[in-house]
Amino acid sequence: MSWVSDYQYTCLQKLALNTLQFSGQIPHHIAFVMDGNRRFARSKHIDKIEGHSRGFSKLADVLRWCLDLGIREVTTFAFSIENFKRSSDEVEGLFNLARDKFAQLLKETDRLDEHGIRIRVLGNIELLPADLQRLIASAMLRTEHNDKLFLNVAFAYTSRDEITQAVESVLHATNENDDDGLLPTDINERLLEACLYTRHSPPPDLVFRTSGETRLSDFMMWQIKSSVLYFTEVLWPQITIWNFMAGISAYKRDSSRIDDFRREQRLHSAQLAKTSDFYSLRVQKFLHKLDANRRKLLIALASN
Ligand code: FPP
Ligand code: MG
Repeated sequence: MSWVSDYQYTCLQKLALNTLQFSGQIPHHIAFVMDGNRRFARSKHIDKIEGHSRGFSKLADVLRWCLDLGIREVTTFAFSIENFKRSSDEVEGLFNLARDKFAQLLKETDRLDEHGIRIRVLGNIELLPADLQRLIASAMLRTEHNDKLFLNVAFAYTSRDEITQAVESVLHATNENDDDGLLPTDINERLLEACLYTRHSPPPDLVFRTSGETRLSDFMMWQIKSSVLYFTEVLWPQITIWNFMAGISAYKRDSSRIDDFRREQRLHSAQLAKTSDFYSLRVQKFLHKLDANRRKLLIALASN
């Protein structure tokens, strides 16, 4: 199963998708919590890793629907740091699935290029086995020139860890005694936000969680302060295009109320981001170095 499926729409589905696309605002960025793979596996009497594998196939359909609807950014929660507490069989099974899928991605980069898909893995990837780190780093570097759809895979991720990493980066820079150091007065929300794994992404407009759980599970807690939350009972491997469109419609209903506020916020951030006084020269230098160091790390991991 490829990362982007060849989903075949029925005429009715195509019509419904087109209607949704051209009636009002669609979300720019959707974050999916793909929950319910093991309950699905139990209900079908299949192994739980097969349940996760069917979950991946569904992700490939969902990506196709997002591409066709014109969504620009998708973030998906594939492996929480909390998941390390699961049985070693399951953790190893999930890593094998990820190895398989990232290796396959590297073989089908032409297809990703054709759709302009850039893969970014959000998380503390140094917690992962070295061979998986290498595959992930290679996939990120190989697709870094694409910019039509950003696919962020949260892997070895929790918000608490992400925020801790951001604080560590800032602390490290305030302890530097050279010109690249930060001053305590440079520390504010915008600086911390710029140090998160998602620093190059707008916040999700919609968070979509399957399986009836109405929790956030330490996922993008910083980023979702104004996101619309949509919960559905359906288990992730069973989600249909109709469930997907129901989530988009719920977003449209909710966002029509908060749209003006959100638009103003985006405009404000975009204007500020363009001005050099948004960040001082010192902070700009620090952020530039942070990006360069993270890229250097990817190059080192990819060549390990
Ligand atoms: C949650 O269901 C799902 C996961 C913990 C794993 C999701 C991973 C995939 C769909 C594969 C993704 C792989 C890549 C490379 C992107 P659950 O296990 O919590 O199921 P339950 O809620 O029924 O117990
Ligand atoms: Mg679960």
